[in-house]
Amino acid sequence: RASVVQAPNSVLGGLATRRVVRLTLTQGPEPVTADLLIYTPAKPGKHPAFLNINFLGNQTISMESDIPISTKWFADRPGIAENNRATEASRGAQVRRYPLESILSRGYGLVTFYRGDIEPDHPEGWKVGVRGKMQPTGRAFATDDWGAISAWAWGLSCAMDYIEIDDLFDAGKVVVIGHSRLGKTALWASAQDQRFAMAISNCSGSGGAALARRCFGETVEASIRQFPYWYCENYKQYSKNEAALPVDQHELIALTAPRPVYIASASEDLWSDPKGELLAAINAQPVYALFGKTGLGQLDFDPNAIRLPPPERPLGETIGYHMRTGKHDILKYDWEQYLNFADRHLGR
Ligand code: GCU
Repeated sequence: RASVVQAPNSVLGGLATRRVVRLTLTQGPEPVTADLLIYTPAKPGKHPAFLNINFLGNQTISMESDIPISTKWFADRPGIAENNRATEASRGAQVRRYPLESILSRGYGLVTFYRGDIEPDHPEGWKVGVRGKMQPTGRAFATDDWGAISAWAWGLSCAMDYIEIDDLFDAGKVVVIGHSRLGKTALWASAQDQRFAMAISNCSGSGGAALARRCFGETVEASIRQFPYWYCENYKQYSKNEAALPVDQHELIALTAPRPVYIASASEDLWSDPKGELLAAINAQPVYALFGKTGLGQLDFDPNAIRLPPPERPLGETIGYHMRTGKHDILKYDWEQYLNFADRHLGR
């Protein structure tokens, strides 16, 4: 069920309209709800859009002072949350990751919501999130039941259900985009839901775009040790046993085919294994070829002979790739490449 939490406002100097729509996602008492913060270009028409889950709440993505602050669980962190609730001080804390003016002036909408709306990101989070609420009473999780990443990905599909009925969107042109753990989530959401016209993985690393069998940076063991609840139980079999994996992450990327997919890394983000992300993109190409599509296309360097892919050189056709100089983050440079890629493929 969708209901309006904040009516449309003209924002960003008239560039955009902003509103908040609440999705109620489960039945019964204390249902799971997700608040979609929605920006659409002010000019009339049906708009393409980027759909994203944010790390620290809707109020962190913009300096605007009237974005409702979520009352859900947050990890305590100075300037963000105290006593597990987000503070006023958190407003605008992640603006560097959201170049709103660029996105909207290029003609795209943005829909974003807080990860903790679907499931709080901690080992017990499932109890209050969709996984707990949808589990038949008394039944334990099976070894192939979903983890938090799948739950978040399901939330993206629910947001897509809403976008499809909202007249301000062109639902055939929705790009699912995520950074880091939410980049893993974006790839998984796109693999399962063909309504996403395009997927973008920014520094998604282990469990995302990076090849697990390279065992470089964050290994399966390291990821499961810190975040066992992100994955299904079965994944544990491959901890320190990556060679036994029957699939690897290039196949996750390929599950978006023939739709365009973009993989991006950052040069100092070795935990996410930039080279493993590029090699996964390269190895996803045969599936695109089956659809008559060119993936990355001809490379003018040997990916196996170099330590890292060259930075600031966006590559590719139906599969895009770039490595940005710098740290684990999603910045204006990254968004510029995504906007260019979306323009190219969504026919703007
Ligand atoms: C940790 C984790 C990564 C994840 C990252 C993030 O570093 O090990 O797998 O991508 O957090 O989400 O920022």
